[in-house]
Amino acid sequence: VPQTALKVDLEGNAYDILIGPGLLAEGGARLAPVLPSKKICVVTDETVAKTYLLPFMKSLEASGFSACPPVILPPGEGTKSFEKLQYITDKLLSYRLDRKSALVALGGGVVGDITGFAASIVLRGMNFVQVPTTLLAQVDSSVGGKTGINTAQGKNLVGSFHQPKIVLIDTGTLKTLPPREMKAGYAEILKYALIDRPDFFGWLDASAAALLAGDAAALSHAIRESCAAKAAIVAADEREEKDLRALLNLGHTFGHALEGIGGYDGRLLHGEAVGIGMKMAFDFSALLGLCPPADAARISAHLEKIGLMAKPPFPVAAKDMLDRMRGDKKNANGKLTLILAKGIGKSFIAKDVDENRLMDYLKGVPWNST
Ligand SMILES: NC(=O)c1ccc[n+]([C@@H]2O[C@H](COP(=O)([O-])OP(=O)(O)OC[C@H]3O[C@@H](n4cnc5c(N)ncnc54)[C@H](O)[C@@H]3O)[C@@H](O)[C@H]2O)c1
Ligand SMILES: [Zn+2]
Repeated sequence: VPQTALKVDLEGNAYDILIGPGLLAEGGARLAPVLPSKKICVVTDETVAKTYLLPFMKSLEASGFSACPPVILPPGEGTKSFEKLQYITDKLLSYRLDRKSALVALGGGVVGDITGFAASIVLRGMNFVQVPTTLLAQVDSSVGGKTGINTAQGKNLVGSFHQPKIVLIDTGTLKTLPPREMKAGYAEILKYALIDRPDFFGWLDASAAALLAGDAAALSHAIRESCAAKAAIVAADEREEKDLRALLNLGHTFGHALEGIGGYDGRLLHGEAVGIGMKMAFDFSALLGLCPPADAARISAHLEKIGLMAKPPFPVAAKDMLDRMRGDKKNANGKLTLILAKGIGKSFIAKDVDENRLMDYLKGVPWNST
């Protein structure tokens, strides 16, 4: 499988996404041309560090980078906190980095989100590089420049926009990713197909099994297609101001509510919540008469076929769900905004969703506890 490149076309902030096996070992050589300084610091988590930190550090050294001691965080969603953010910023300042230095996120979306946020606030903004190692991070979180941490009020409520200088996607790192994490990442791939790429859905329906089994060609194609889809939306609406980028939230308002109810304790992964959330968005769209019921049924069948979770592994009360959905960042003037669909590949931003009808739908979901 050859390496390929894509461009995220942002005015003043354009950057490349390189995709393919073996990129980690070429890290230094790939970063050198796009960074203004050889001072660099890698942030990662303990799990990723075990396998990938040493080869990456070696590649940096081989290209003449002067790397600070890496910052190694505990793995898991709990790391996206103010406490760990301060831990990172304290380290960076103690290393006496300057604005031209770069901060590299080597890991999944958790490492990428908190490292990107740190890079955006230390010294009012340092250079940032994404080296995503989970499928979810490779197809979603490493592209687009959203960074952030979680608070008691919910996920990603504190953060910034800070674009990377380059994204290095070494598809070889997926060989060690647990199957459950692969499926969770797959949910975000499916998202792009359901938003506006019906042909991609057809391809996925035929190829998902091979992809999830680690087929290199299928993975590369799906990652490239996903990054291209995300890059196109981000280039057209970098800061979610034009009623476009919000489409990427398909399944996420339902999903974030479920994640919040679960308490981020590992029972329900982000991608799993998004999978359930997309099914809910289509089922609700069908109930409203917006979407053919057959399209909603195809999605349920697809999720079942690939073995993505169809319902949360804990009880959910309809009222709790609605309360949490009301707190979503997309809502304006007290009106509920959701991403709904007129069919597979025909998603749209629905403003002013009727809360009574949503409540009726939520109460009717078979696994709902009330
Ligand atoms: N910024 C964005 O635009 C955006 C988009 C989507 C999701 N996110 C965020 O991403 C986060 C989820 O990211 P994630 O699913 O990558 O989770 P994660 O970063 O927690 O990684 C999942 C697990 O896999 C391990 N891991 C990582 N790479 C591995 C590898 N190659 N082999 C073996 N194990 C590996 C990690 O240590 C971790 O235990 C959430 O916090 C979510 O909010 C952000
Ligand atoms: Zn997501």
